[in-house]
Amino acid sequence: MHYDLLDAGVRRRLERFGAHIIDRPAPGADGFRLAPGQWVNADLRFDAGSGWSGPAWPAEPWPVEIDGLTMELRPTTSGGLGLYPEHAANLAWLAAQVGAQVSAGAADGAVPQVLNLFAHTGLATLAMARAGAAVAHVDGARAAVAWARRNAELSGLADRPVRWLVDDAAAFAAREARRGRRYDGIVLDPPAFGRADGREWRLEEDLPALLTACRTVAAPDAFVLLTAHSESVDGTVLAAMLRSAFGGRSQSMEVVPLDLAATSGARLALGWAVRRGS
Ligand SMILES: C[S@@+](CC[C@H](N)C(=O)[O-])C[C@H]1O[C@@H](n2cnc3c(N)ncnc32)[C@H](O)[C@@H]1O
Repeated sequence: MHYDLLDAGVRRRLERFGAHIIDRPAPGADGFRLAPGQWVNADLRFDAGSGWSGPAWPAEPWPVEIDGLTMELRPTTSGGLGLYPEHAANLAWLAAQVGAQVSAGAADGAVPQVLNLFAHTGLATLAMARAGAAVAHVDGARAAVAWARRNAELSGLADRPVRWLVDDAAAFAAREARRGRRYDGIVLDPPAFGRADGREWRLEEDLPALLTACRTVAAPDAFVLLTAHSESVDGTVLAAMLRSAFGGRSQSMEVVPLDLAATSGARLALGWAVRRGS
């Protein structure tokens, strides 16, 4: 993987993304820096008030390989890069879930159908498409969907059965429920706050109704991956919400911290994943 968290602390993170070393804010990095001498190596830096700076700024888009997938990175005006490296920890689990569904449907040639909401630049979509799923990739931002399609091309997966959909996640899930669609797997990575089609998304207010809509479109043995990065929800609460929406079924549910370990020894807490296996 062409990614390393090099150090974190004093509310910032230092990361190598392929060709660039980046110094940017990290509200969860409230400890000491363990490799203070490395921070001068950053060639791109983001600050909330003044934006991007550094010797490599302005940076052309550049590729980074994560788990055999090629993601194009670009500094965004909000300090993002088009990749959440902590999500790489879910890729093997997603591929295993899709692989199990592929094996289960092999006799009648059924292709697992997966819904990916808030799908961003496509890391999870591409991992699941590569494993054999047909994916409905939904994001409210047209630019994010175009970026994900570019990543599909760069990863050699442009011919896979992916529906690239610019839509509000909750509105799309509700429409699919009315159409009677059923998915074998559902992935949701809602932001704390978002906007699509003039609608606002607020995690604490809107997640319960979205999970209920997801339950309606989920096949009985569907797998679910829910990740969240808001300081106001922890993994136990997310798991309780998922259990409440999907009922007390017997399938396994695991709560996984989305922490990154720095090469310096520092740790960075970046939220939670709740996985419900099929
Ligand atoms: C991947 S999530 C962000 C979660 C992220 N890991 C974090 O730390 O906050 C962001 C994506 O959700 C999309 N998004 C925001 N609000 C949305 C909505 N109401 N419907 C669909 N997509 C939305 C954004 O365009 C963006 O690509």
